[in-house]
Amino acid sequence: MSNKMWGGRYATGPAAIMEEINVSIDFDKALWRQDIRGSKAHVAMLARQGILTTADAAAITDGLTQIEGEIASGSFTFSRALEDIHFNIESRLTEIVGPTGGRLHTARSRNDQVAVDFRLYVRDTIDELDAQLADLQRALAETALAHADTIMPGFTHLQSAQPVTLGHHLMAYVEMHGRDRSRLMDARRRLNESPLGAAALAGTSFPIDRHMTAAALDFDRPMANSLDCVSDRDFALETLSAASICAIHLSRFAEEIVLWTTPQFAFVSLSDAFTSGSSIMPQKRNPDAAELVRGKAGRIVGALNALLMTMKGLPLAYGKDMQEDKEPTFDALSSLSLCIAAMTGMVRDMKPDDARMKQWAGAGYSTATDLADWLVRTLDMPFREAHHVTARLVGVAAAKGLDLDRLGLDEMQAVEPRITQDVFAVLGVENSVASRMSYGGTAPEQVRRQARRWIEALDGEAAAQG
Ligand code: ARG
Repeated sequence: MSNKMWGGRYATGPAAIMEEINVSIDFDKALWRQDIRGSKAHVAMLARQGILTTADAAAITDGLTQIEGEIASGSFTFSRALEDIHFNIESRLTEIVGPTGGRLHTARSRNDQVAVDFRLYVRDTIDELDAQLADLQRALAETALAHADTIMPGFTHLQSAQPVTLGHHLMAYVEMHGRDRSRLMDARRRLNESPLGAAALAGTSFPIDRHMTAAALDFDRPMANSLDCVSDRDFALETLSAASICAIHLSRFAEEIVLWTTPQFAFVSLSDAFTSGSSIMPQKRNPDAAELVRGKAGRIVGALNALLMTMKGLPLAYGKDMQEDKEPTFDALSSLSLCIAAMTGMVRDMKPDDARMKQWAGAGYSTATDLADWLVRTLDMPFREAHHVTARLVGVAAAKGLDLDRLGLDEMQAVEPRITQDVFAVLGVENSVASRMSYGGTAPEQVRRQARRWIEALDGEAAAQG
């Protein structure tokens, strides 16, 4: 059988392998809501412009509403022979309303139709991801506020460097996700122009009103060039790029959770809700959710690369290559959504071991910088010299197997005679942390201030959204 949607010139149906490579309904059915929304806006405009009669437009709109119900309830039969979501819906429309259904596609092509659907889908997804990221930020900021005083080692090169607070560490991710959200919103702003009305590529001879359909679909304006409308997917690339950066951020915290939950670190524990046991080793609690967040970053970045390669060198305007835009985008955005949800769950679930973190915060001469700073402040020593003196003191302590604050004053004075008893005040981790009052520093007071500022901002956003 030749294709009933475009088969006028075709005597026979497609080779089986042609249908197999061409068909997209298995994945583009995800666009059904957007497709119907776009069609309703289009048909309302056709009627207002006198291109369709009001009676035809009403019949088509009712038919589309019926189809919406059928798909939502699961009673709609998707057909692979009908290729994609656009043909599936249009074919059903004609079944319901008769030949009038065939008038819906006046002054439109699947090329601008799919461009609208996909833009609307990506826009809807951005809004969902933004709300999810706000929730993750809230979980992080609330946990940070509760742990503004919880001391832990801060690392560079994954070696204990200086003591910080757990709250400070968590707030770093609040900042990163704030930028993730702003990148997504930035992509949304540029995405928000309507391609509808470009038709196949050149525009149409019908007196359509593209401003009307743009407004009906909550776009800021129609796109200004019909070739551009149907041929670019940069909005998906930008969104995948923002999604990739976000996934990379999530993977870093996921990796830290993996590390922190090992018995060797034992900084935090996760409950049964976010771990799984081993089939052979009864003692194990594996942080599977964190590992999967770490792992899924790979496929999200992979999707960005896949679409970049699909678009590379593609001549204008539409090419069927572009049907390859959907699977990676759908997969990456739903994977990201899952990762954000899992991470939010883990943040709310995790139980920090304050004593254990504090113990390790003091290990590895982590207050050596505080000692050097004391020499600068109290003895007016140039920092470079203070660095050398401190290194010698660390050497003495290491030779004796002691922490810095366990050295005797006499042992210190043997290295630098002007050192006084006061120095011990800066060698404790609490003092070290409390002294880091510079803006953005790890002092509990600073951390509380930042956490409260974010919680207030998130409350404000939530209130504005009603
Ligand atoms: N399924 C197609 C896609 O996703 C719809 C557009 C088809 N356009 C065409 N000229 N064959 O790109």
